[in-house]
Amino acid sequence: EQIKKGNYDHFMQKEIHEQPHSLTTTMRGRLRANDVVLGGLKDHLKTIRHSRRIIFIGCGTSYNAALAARPFMEELSGIPVTLELASDLLDRQGVMYREDTAVFVSQSGETADTLLALEYALEHGALCVGITNTVGSTLARKTHCGVHINAGCEIGVASTKAYTSQIVVMVMMALAIGADKISTQSKREAIINSLPDLPNKVSEVLKLDNEMKDLAESLIEVQSLLVFGRGYNYATALEGALKVKEVALTHSEGMLAGEMKHGPLALVDETLPIIVIATRDACFSKQQSVIQQLHARKGRLIVMCSNGDASSVCPSESCRVIEVPQVADCLQPVINIVPLQLLAYHLTVLRGYDVDQPRNLAKSVTTQ
Ligand code: AGP
Repeated sequence: EQIKKGNYDHFMQKEIHEQPHSLTTTMRGRLRANDVVLGGLKDHLKTIRHSRRIIFIGCGTSYNAALAARPFMEELSGIPVTLELASDLLDRQGVMYREDTAVFVSQSGETADTLLALEYALEHGALCVGITNTVGSTLARKTHCGVHINAGCEIGVASTKAYTSQIVVMVMMALAIGADKISTQSKREAIINSLPDLPNKVSEVLKLDNEMKDLAESLIEVQSLLVFGRGYNYATALEGALKVKEVALTHSEGMLAGEMKHGPLALVDETLPIIVIATRDACFSKQQSVIQQLHARKGRLIVMCSNGDASSVCPSESCRVIEVPQVADCLQPVINIVPLQLLAYHLTVLRGYDVDQPRNLAKSVTTQ
C-alpha cells in the first residue's frame, strides 16, 4: 500500500496531485487540429444530434461533474440538457422518451442507483451513453456506447481526479456533438486549442497546497462552511462542499449564489466562513455584487478569483483570497475545484480523521 502511495501520505492526496497526469491521459489520442475524436461515440453522434433531450444521470461527485458540463453541452449542442440524480429519477419514475439520449456518469460504473436508472432508460428505449473510469464495469457493458475517462485507478473514497477527468470528457463530448454547428465554431476551436495546456494550469494551481493548508488551519474549529458559486461554477460550489462534508466531517453547503437572497443570507454573520467563487466569466459582475452584499452584512469571506483580481474583488483586509489561473469558462471548474480538494484534504488531516476511508462511506455504493 505504501508503495502505491509513493511519496504521499494518503491516496486522496496522491490523486489530487496526480491530476495534471490523469487529465493528460484523459485527452491522449483524442485531440486533433480543430477536432475531437471519441471512438466510442463516433457511430452514434448523428443520433445524439437529433435527440429530443440530453439527460445526464449520476450520483454524488459524478452528478456534480455533469452539472459542471451542462452549460457548455447546451451551448455547443443546441439541445436541451437536463440533469437527474439517479435515485430521484427512480423515485419519480421520471418521463423518458425514445428520442432522449441518457448519459450515465459513474467513476466506478457499479453504483446501484445509476445502474437501476440505466435499466429504466433502456426499458424506455433511450440511447444510453456511459462515461466511466472502469473498463469492463456493468455501466460500460450495458450502455449502447460511451467514453472511458482513463483517469487511472482512484482509491480514496473521495473522488478527485475522476471528477476533473469526467468534466473534460463531457467537454470533449460537447465539442464532438457540436462539430457541425457553424455559429459556435470559433469558440469550439478556441477550446480545442486550449485543452492541451490544461494540465499545466492544474500544476500551477496545485502550488496553492501550502496556502490551502494555512487556510485549513484557520478553519479547524468551524462547525459549518458555505460555498457560493453560479454558472459554470455552481457545480464547483456543490463539489467543494461535498468534499469538505465527506472527508473533513464538517457541515458544508454548496449554494447557487443567485439564491442567496432567497434564504441563505439570513445565516450570514462574523463567524460563518463563506467561500465565494468569483473567477472571470459571464457571471463575474454578479459575483462581485454578492461579495459586496456579504461584506455589508459582515460575512467572513474567502474569495476565489482569477490571478491578479484580488484587489478588485476583496472588499477588506480581513477577506481571504484564493487566486487561480484563468482558463476558458467551460474549463474553469477543473481549475477551481483543486484548491477546494486541497482544503478538504488538509482540514481532514488537521482534524485527525481518516482521509481515505471516511466513516460510514464506501467507494462504490452497490446497494440502493
Ligand atoms: C465522491 O467523493 C463520493 N464518494 C460519491 O459521491 C460518489 O461520487 C458517488 O457515490 C458516485 O460514485 P460513482 O461515480 O462511482 O458512480
